[in-house]
Amino acid sequence: MKKIIIALDGHSSCGKSTMAKDLAAKIGYKYIDSGAMYRAVTLYSIENGIFKGEQLNPDALEKAMDHIKIDFHPNPETGKSDTYLNGKNVEKKIRGMEVAGKVSPIATVGFVRRAMVRQQQEFGMEKGIVMDGRDIGTVVFPHAELKVFVTARPEVRAQRRLDELKAKGEDTTFEEVLDNIKQRDLIDSTRSESPLRKADDAFVLDNSDLTIDEQNKILLKMFQEKSN
Ligand code: DC
Repeated sequence: MKKIIIALDGHSSCGKSTMAKDLAAKIGYKYIDSGAMYRAVTLYSIENGIFKGEQLNPDALEKAMDHIKIDFHPNPETGKSDTYLNGKNVEKKIRGMEVAGKVSPIATVGFVRRAMVRQQQEFGMEKGIVMDGRDIGTVVFPHAELKVFVTARPEVRAQRRLDELKAKGEDTTFEEVLDNIKQRDLIDSTRSESPLRKADDAFVLDNSDLTIDEQNKILLKMFQEKSN
């Protein structure tokens, strides 16, 4: 079996990361969550005064880029990989509401994207990697052997996200979550820098009516076909 690159792109809250993590664990590949990298840059910006309220200072961010080092290290307790920013574990912080609310503008900045893409390509030099994001099959690894575009109906994604938020004790409504998802879809797919779009040679996997187990099986089969 040859080692390949697996690129999973798609809409927010459609379970890409869960799929990508499960597949990587099953086949013994490295997993990289590219969204976590944009989240880490956002956290750095919040903590270092690069955001003034909602306003991003692009000059300050450009100067700071050389001081932002992002790594992933396995967490023996969870068996998953955690995100590190300049040597500190920031996995929990980057999943909070403040980062989630500010990451979209950061992910539209060209020099941020170029720096992240360079690092993502280095992670993939030896292949044997599953990476999820928005531009993995189109920009980061246009020659990936397996590309999957994951999606689900907005209402289905909103319900899943609502269940997650409620489990964390957050007080919100279905309508609010659905609005946020539609808004994020629009920003992700209409931005000028690397918009979310399906690569011409990507398989579409709509998991609206699939269980996690069913979608994992479909993905595993695709992997087996491509790596043989
Ligand atoms: O997948 P996520 O929600 O953790 O992504 C966080 C943000 O980063 C989201 O606004 C989309 C953006 N992103 C991106 O522009 N390109 C990627 N490869 C991954 C994420």
